Amino acid sequence: MDAKPLSVLLQDLRDERAAEVPFPPGETRVSLTRTRRFAAEPLPMLLDAYERFGPVFTLRLFHSNVVFMLGPAANHYVTVSHASNFTWREGHFRDLIGLMGDGLLTIDGEFHRRSRMIMLPAFHHKHIAAWVDVISEETNRALDELAPGAHLDLYAWTRRLALRVAMRALFGLDPDGELARAVDAAGLFEQGLSFYSSEYLLRILRTPFSPWARMQQAARKLDVIIYGEISRRRATGQRGSDILSLLLDAEDEDGSRLSDRQIRDEVMTLLFAGHDTTTSTVSFMFYELARHPAVVERLLAEQDEQISGQGPTAPQLTSGELEQLEMVLDETLRMYPPAWIGPRRSVEAFEFEGHAVPARAFVNYCSWASHHLPEVFEDPEEFRPERFTPEGRAALAKGAYVPFGGGSRTCIGMRFGQLEVRTIATLLLSRFTLSLADGFKLSVRQMPTISPKHGLPMVVHERARAPAAGLPAAA
Ligand code: HEM
Repeated sequence: MDAKPLSVLLQDLRDERAAEVPFPPGETRVSLTRTRRFAAEPLPMLLDAYERFGPVFTLRLFHSNVVFMLGPAANHYVTVSHASNFTWREGHFRDLIGLMGDGLLTIDGEFHRRSRMIMLPAFHHKHIAAWVDVISEETNRALDELAPGAHLDLYAWTRRLALRVAMRALFGLDPDGELARAVDAAGLFEQGLSFYSSEYLLRILRTPFSPWARMQQAARKLDVIIYGEISRRRATGQRGSDILSLLLDAEDEDGSRLSDRQIRDEVMTLLFAGHDTTTSTVSFMFYELARHPAVVERLLAEQDEQISGQGPTAPQLTSGELEQLEMVLDETLRMYPPAWIGPRRSVEAFEFEGHAVPARAFVNYCSWASHHLPEVFEDPEEFRPERFTPEGRAALAKGAYVPFGGGSRTCIGMRFGQLEVRTIATLLLSRFTLSLADGFKLSVRQMPTISPKHGLPMVVHERARAPAAGLPAAA
């Protein structure tokens, strides 16, 4: 939503009225209860609508009709085969423009293609070695704070860790350095992001002290840091292995480079897209592991067999050589894909599975709901890493498993995210075993990414050595 939200909302209504074909079946009467329920618990609502209306349906949410397309064929249609009929900037990702400007998540067409081409080399696997060191160093540092008997909120612990990793690896900023401490860049970034988890109706306000005003204030302060760093690096020629350094010199096929403004927007986008997603994945993984001690045993046995006294090797962390861990990661991302919804806007009217969808309609695919369809994943509520054996994976239908999206806009940070989760999980498991705090009951918050709503209180134990018995019982 931009600086004039009301005119945007009115335009949405005009677009809806101008629709030349009807919306797919669904619930299209205005309902505040439905809107509230969707904000609180979208998964059961989407699964219920899928049962009643099939893979393409409409729900009236907030002020407008929103079309949902679920299941393997729908995911493939939106992200791959008909991706060019959908824009990102005019769908609900437009809400991100206020903080992120014109980064990869909010641009389309040729501008997006060129920006992505310029950025891709920064995510090439040859840079991964540098990231392994940064992530391992930060993880070991955070693990040194823990000891058996300690109670911790694993979500908050991982979030701090992921933000430090992001600052160093993406931005080349020392989180303990003078600059970061003087301006609390991490705190400002969290302040900016809190806009996206505030009550939807409050997000429309543009008054002083509104969530929007706080977000803008944080963005202005962050701009001073980011632009300052860009001009310092340009002036001194100083470069490191961080992504900002790579973006400063990156060129596309015609020799074009990113402007300062583009670099600022891309850095902000990467910080946003890159730290919340990995934090949630680590949290949900350890939530499920605490409830499945037999899976922990298999992970520890794998570590004891394959990891030497020097710790995990770079190939073990970068390429998913630890098979048990890989299956646990895949299953975690099936049950809890952090970037759970893919918001788009249709360009032209189209037909899917016998239903017409108008031009300029809000259209979302949804990995979270698609990963919970029983005809695609049997007993979808069960955490079963063995679904993702190499054979199980190969048997999945096209579009069935989309935690990183698909097609030409697949998550650009996928390798980075996977590496980070593998490294944190491997090092944590090699030192400690975690159990859930007594009485903890998970509830899931869904904005901007899905995450444990009230954090993840856990208790730290000595590492249970595989295949020894006596692992802490699941809470
Ligand atoms: C477990 C970790 C992660 C998950 C599950 C994840 C998931 C996703 C998904 C599903 C999309 C596509 C959204 C859509 O189709 O609407 C996406 C896009 C994106 N992700 Fe990630 N992500 C992760 C980590 C990261 C990291 C670490 C970074 C950056 C360092 C990152 C940067 C991006 C960017 C820039 C895009 C937009 C790409 C484009 O449109 O060209 N992500 N991510």
